[in-house]
Amino acid sequence: MSEPTPPTPPAPPRSAFNNWISAIGAVLAVGALFSFALLVAMSFIQGDKNPYLGILTYIVAPAFLIGGLLIVVFGAWLQRRYALKHAASRPDRWQLDLHNPRQRRHLIMLAGGTCMFLLLSAFGSYQTYHYAESVQFCGEVCHQAMKPEHVTYQRGSHSRVSCVECHIGSGVEWFFKAKINGAHQLVAYALDNYERPIATPVKNLRPARDICEQCHWPEKFLGNLDVTFEHFMSDKKNTPYSVRMLMKVNSGRPGAPMGGIHWHVSPENKVEYYAIDDKRQDIVWMRVTNTKDGSEKIFRNEEFKGEPPVALVRTMDCVDCHNRPAHVFPTANDSVEQAMALGRINTTLPNIKRYAVQAMLQKEITTSAEAPTKIADYLRNRYKDAAGLQETITEVQRIYAETIFPERKADWRVYPNNIGHKDWPGCFRCHDDKHKTAAGETVRASDCSSCHVILAQGKTEELATLTSSGLEFKHPGGSYDEELRCADCHNGGIQGK
Ligand code: HEC
Ligand code: HEC
Ligand code: HEC
Ligand code: HEC
Ligand code: HEC
Ligand code: HEC
Repeated sequence: MSEPTPPTPPAPPRSAFNNWISAIGAVLAVGALFSFALLVAMSFIQGDKNPYLGILTYIVAPAFLIGGLLIVVFGAWLQRRYALKHAASRPDRWQLDLHNPRQRRHLIMLAGGTCMFLLLSAFGSYQTYHYAESVQFCGEVCHQAMKPEHVTYQRGSHSRVSCVECHIGSGVEWFFKAKINGAHQLVAYALDNYERPIATPVKNLRPARDICEQCHWPEKFLGNLDVTFEHFMSDKKNTPYSVRMLMKVNSGRPGAPMGGIHWHVSPENKVEYYAIDDKRQDIVWMRVTNTKDGSEKIFRNEEFKGEPPVALVRTMDCVDCHNRPAHVFPTANDSVEQAMALGRINTTLPNIKRYAVQAMLQKEITTSAEAPTKIADYLRNRYKDAAGLQETITEVQRIYAETIFPERKADWRVYPNNIGHKDWPGCFRCHDDKHKTAAGETVRASDCSSCHVILAQGKTEELATLTSSGLEFKHPGGSYDEELRCADCHNGGIQGK
């Protein structure tokens, strides 16, 4: 019990804490404590509506409190050092004497203070931790730079899954990695030199096994999906055209090996690939390993002769197809068509599909602020004051605001979605009949029904009859050279003419 404690020894009159520096520190700490209490009370009253309140309460106030306390101690240390140097006789060493009522009182006060501080800091750090992990913090405050991701996230199927559940996951190691990385980003943000757009793919994304599979575990993948894609031609009548298809997501049965689209992530196979570009769009080499017997198959693009650099070979996981699970940047074409299908854009306006898309893609729009006026002018010029025009204009403005971010240079053109193959290469990065094994085997692509079966296609009436054996795709844009990939023509804007 000989621990030195700060309370003043009774003999020398002046306490080490009795100095200007410590006094300033104490004022700071008390002020911070007071503001902290006030801010906590405010956040209870107001709720979590104001994102900046959180920063003040759980980051700024505690920082001042701790800073203040450190200054108090620093002042005392300086004072004592000074006293040691200048005193005629060396001051007594601090000694604990429980018989001394003054010291006893100080000790009790100190113990009480420490308990209070520990309790407060436990509450504070818990709140700070939570706050730093919230969607509000990631998406609104600290990461204003991530506005496009935050806005697109709100519409996605994961809008109730917080950013950190995918970007950090559980565990201390990844928490610290993320915060170190975050500190980096904060500096870049403060200096205003962050990337626009933020690069994709995320190089240090945690393996999907640790994130996606916490909620979607492969053993639970069963059955196929019935999906309808609704389109409208860019003709005068905005002719509807839909495709209803059965996606062969999983043809396996419980306990049986996984077949179908999710075959790639079955525990029985490992698919690795090497892409020569940063966005992983240009895949030249891949290897399939059967994890049971160890046999391998290597597919190569004709132009690629060598061996891929080992460090750049990537093992395929969920994110190689579902690379936009939370932040989908839909194409202008798709979002206009969706609004038409929902009746939010008036389909009786002649050529509205074409003009709505073109209104959003005007080169003249350079900031989000001027987009609404330019879109409205563009459409008014074409339709004068046709009935129902205003709702259409409002809808196109809304779509623009939620999907195109000129200041960040962020939209579908820089954020490819790998799930299909119409507007981006997607599945056809590998399934293109051009990647071959030494024996000349390819990854089937020309066989359209290996991934899906078309149940019905065409105009609204034609969708009424389903064909379970599958139909041949009737391309609404007419016939085209088989060598072309869909994405060679379709780019999310308006095709042809
Ligand atoms: C369901 C999981 C999930 C959630 C929830 C999620 N993200 Fe993402 N995020 C991803 C994936 C997957 C990628 C792309 C990874 C890749 O292609 O390498 C990504 C990419 C990003 C990128 C890089 C740019 C881009 O678009 O590719 C940013 C920035 C980002 N996310 C921020 C956020 C923010 C902010 C939130 C919360 C508002 C959030 N994310 C929520 C899975 C998620
Ligand atoms: C915290 C749990 C959670 C995590 C982590 C998570 N998801 Fe989800 N996911 C959900 C929920 C909930 C839904 C919505 C289910 C529904 O609509 O029935 C969903 C839906 C989906 C869908 C179907 C809807 C769509 O948008 O097509 C896909 C695909 C998907 N998730 C992929 C992923 C991928 C890939 C990851 C990892 C990057 C991931 N999820 C991480 C909970 C999660
Ligand atoms: C080869 C590409 C590919 C890979 C790899 C892949 N998926 Fe999928 N997944 C698909 C496609 C295609 C669909 C069909 C839905 C669609 O077309 O949007 C789908 C559908 C889903 C669905 C929705 C099923 C439903 O019933 O709504 C979930 C959830 C999902 N995938 C999760 C995952 C997870 C988790 C992983 C990683 C373990 C994964 N996927 C790996 C391509 C893939
Ligand atoms: C990185 C390359 C790559 C990408 C991207 C890719 N695949 Fe594959 N896929 C393969 C390889 C390799 C095989 C196995 C070919 C073989 O062994 O003959 C395969 C096999 C398949 C099979 C057959 C599975 C079985 O049961 O035998 C389906 C279905 C399939 N892929 C669908 C898709 C879909 C849908 C997408 C896009 C969402 C996609 N793939 C994206 C490489 C890829
Ligand atoms: C490797 C698997 C695979 C092959 C092979 C394949 N598709 Fe697809 N296709 C998909 C997936 C996955 C989607 C779903 C995309 C999505 O969910 O957005 C899709 C979607 C489509 C759509 C709907 C797209 C839209 O936006 O309307 C059409 C049409 C289509 N495929 C036609 C074809 C035709 C024609 C062929 C043969 C030349 C073919 N597909 C070959 C995987 C494949
Ligand atoms: C030679 C260029 C070309 C190729 C290759 C091509 N398309 Fe098209 N596609 C067009 C044109 C032109 C239209 C008519 C556009 C319109 O009227 O809006 C069209 C229309 C469509 C439409 C309906 C309207 C729309 O824009 O959404 C779908 C769906 C479609 N194509 C799917 C596909 C798929 C899937 C593939 C690959 C299997 C493909 N196309 C390959 C040129 C092409």
